[in-house]
Amino acid sequence: MSLNNKHTQPSAVKKPKIGDFNKLMPKPERIRIISISNQKGGCGKTTSAINIAAGLASLGQRVLLVDLDSQCNATTGLGIELHDVEKSIFDLLVEPKKTSIEDVILETQYENLHIAPGSIELSEFESRMSGEIGRENRLKKALLPLSELYDFILLDTPPSLGLLSINALNASQEVLIALQAHPFAFDGLRLLLETISLIQEELNPNLKIAGLMITMYDARTKISREIVDKVSIMPELEGLIFKTHIRQNIRIAEAAKARKSILNFDPTCTGAIDYKRLSIEICAQNSPSKATLETTTNPSKG
Ligand SMILES: Nc1ncnc2c1ncn2[C@@H]1O[C@H](COP(=O)(O)OP(=O)(O)O)[C@@H](O)[C@H]1O
Ligand SMILES: [Mg+2]
Repeated sequence: MSLNNKHTQPSAVKKPKIGDFNKLMPKPERIRIISISNQKGGCGKTTSAINIAAGLASLGQRVLLVDLDSQCNATTGLGIELHDVEKSIFDLLVEPKKTSIEDVILETQYENLHIAPGSIELSEFESRMSGEIGRENRLKKALLPLSELYDFILLDTPPSLGLLSINALNASQEVLIALQAHPFAFDGLRLLLETISLIQEELNPNLKIAGLMITMYDARTKISREIVDKVSIMPELEGLIFKTHIRQNIRIAEAAKARKSILNFDPTCTGAIDYKRLSIEICAQNSPSKATLETTTNPSKG
């Protein structure tokens, strides 16, 4: 597949590697397509999508990040200017006969990490699709040609459980739930779990929960500790809470402003350490043996 090369660098210029984990992780046997979900805005989905994508890429995985939010923060957060985007994922979803996935995918500033950019027009997706048969399958079909090209496709989803999120959950084998350590975090979690069940029943019986990650964790606060305790005893989430919690860290917001992954922006800050550990946990799920998971991760307790 040859990519739209607006953002590619001359081949003589070597792209920077993301951080330096000093280790490569085994690749999954087959591509893993993972939605990063929670209909609550501001809970760290996009930040996590960018930094897990960067973390996985630095572990030697071939990664595509798909930006499904009309705010396009995943696209701009990886340094792509929206006015440089000729074809976005919106074009492919709405007019699949006129657009191919190759026209949409761009290289990023990092090795192993590509993006299917979003567009402000994604806010019109639902109305544009009204009455269309098979509208929940658009993304799933669009991603089909990529199964040999990537090890991971991460889907950054919008802050609603509308048609774009349904497309994402339908196209994924796994869902990674982002839960902010915040008093209102539980309000939407039940609804998200119900939606996942409904998608499993009606559209995608193979969908499973990859795990729940706690974001903006602060071990000094009671609410952070309570959230972890509460989710840990939920039967639906048994064994599914990632050991690594993403701690609150101002450098993460600063990296977003600088349009860099935290792993490049400040590789030694707690934010970078947490996203590295979480990426290793996710990669360790590639191997059927849970033993790898135990030996490669070192949970952050903040
Ligand atoms: N661990 C963190 N520490 C500090 N700020 C964070 C952290 N994670 C996310 N943020 C900030 O919180 C805001 C919302 O995050 P974002 O990833 O955009 O959420 P969502 O995609 O769920 O709406 C952003 O300004 C982001 O920089
Ligand atoms: Mg977002």
